[in-house]
Amino acid sequence: MSSRIQLNLQIIKRNNYPESLLPVFRIVHADTVNDNSDDYVKKAISEKVSVIPVGQDYWLAVLYKDKNNDDFYVIKEEARRLASKVESLADELKLEKIAMVFNLNEFDEEQKKEVQLAFVEGLVLANYRFVKYKSKPEKHLSALKEVVLGGFVASQDELSQLLNVLESVYYVRDLVNEPPNVLTAEEMAKSFYETGTEVGIKVTILNKEEIEREKMAGLLAVNRGSAFPPTFTIMEYMPENAINEKPIVLVGKGIVFDTGGVSLKSTPNNMDWMKMDMGGGATVAGIIEAIARNKLPLKVIALIPATDNRPGPASYLPDDVIEYSDGTTVEVLNTDAEGRLILADALIYARRYDPLMVIDFATLTGSAMRATGPYGAVMFSTLDSDKTQRLLREGFETYERMVEFPLWDEYGDDIKSSVADIKNIGGPYAGAIIAAKFLQHFVKYPWVHVDIAGTAFLDRKMHYLPKGGTGWGVRMLYSFLKKEFLDN
Ligand code: BES
Ligand code: ZN
Ligand code: ZN
Repeated sequence: MSSRIQLNLQIIKRNNYPESLLPVFRIVHADTVNDNSDDYVKKAISEKVSVIPVGQDYWLAVLYKDKNNDDFYVIKEEARRLASKVESLADELKLEKIAMVFNLNEFDEEQKKEVQLAFVEGLVLANYRFVKYKSKPEKHLSALKEVVLGGFVASQDELSQLLNVLESVYYVRDLVNEPPNVLTAEEMAKSFYETGTEVGIKVTILNKEEIEREKMAGLLAVNRGSAFPPTFTIMEYMPENAINEKPIVLVGKGIVFDTGGVSLKSTPNNMDWMKMDMGGGATVAGIIEAIARNKLPLKVIALIPATDNRPGPASYLPDDVIEYSDGTTVEVLNTDAEGRLILADALIYARRYDPLMVIDFATLTGSAMRATGPYGAVMFSTLDSDKTQRLLREGFETYERMVEFPLWDEYGDDIKSSVADIKNIGGPYAGAIIAAKFLQHFVKYPWVHVDIAGTAFLDRKMHYLPKGGTGWGVRMLYSFLKKEFLDN
């Protein structure tokens, strides 16, 4: 199996790594820098410098957060960010191989392990480069290829599991970064098929004819302006040792490019970047692949409706009325509110599995992006409140944070239609909530909706998140499912 991650990691248990062999970064906490340290080290620490050169090919990488006053998730995030600084410095100095030696004496064993794994996570996430379309790709990769981890307390198995999840993050980033002239709905489905099959997932791709037979009204309507056929991908991971009877179903929005259709977006600032509108689809494929790679005993299914959304001679129009397979009629008043239309088909399709819960990811609304920007996603939940709290908590632990918005009845009044059952847009306020209320109309099971419009794609690098596709959400939902169903 070919790896997308380019960084080679090797564990050594001892922490007295012979410092002459490789450039060394020693990871310490500011509290442990003692009185015998050189004055300039003490000065740098008092100024909170994170990476301090202390000799020929020798640096201190320093954590500052106080474990007695800061929540532990804050320290883990500091470790990820510190790792991304080490990664940039190594790249800048053209260091191909380094040693990273952990001296974290003030933490207990469990905390050490968590901080070290967070550090490795940040390092690998920061080492990502999208070079496929560069004529000299090698020139654009990071110089850093190999890291020896000294004083590492996590096991090889724990490291491999982490790398398997990060492999999925890389996959999602790669897919989101693919340009729309390459990544049609069929090409994306092919990618899901190839990557999924490789890790033991059963992948079925419904073609246009089969989508017509299923009466997927939303997907067919949005696809009408396109020169390319739609796809509906079903990924099923059903291990024999699964502990859940009913499957967990994931749903992802797979709009490979969103022009807005006849309700055309303007460009710049509005239509550019819209290749990222399949981010939800890529995310759920990434999550199920991570689960399969790590062989978690969980039944999981991912559903990904996909098409581009553009104007054409046969485009669907504002004022169209479409009828879903469950009988719901929808008045289309804006062809740019297309995500909810194709997700509705998948949410109806999900009912046949009698799911334990359904979790959807979608770059659904500009409104969600305006609400939280790139620092978190907007989520909605009909799970019981304890489960919802644990999901939000996992958002902090992985630093893929979410804020819960309400599903109050009143917001549903906005999508009442005078000619059909509901319409696909509401009034001027609370756009993210109205979109969620539209989706909820089709939901008949415990459900979570995550609007990732702000987090799926960045216009600038942020610590270990690159410009472009981020792979946001894979780590969060993977950890949530693992903890919720397996860790106890
Ligand atoms: N794909 C967009 C939402 C989006 C906007 C994602 C910005 C990422 C960044 C979605 O299909 C859309 O166009 N939504 C409209 C809905 C409106 C017409 C009701 C929006 O949010 O403006
Ligand atoms: Zn749109
Ligand atoms: Zn869209």
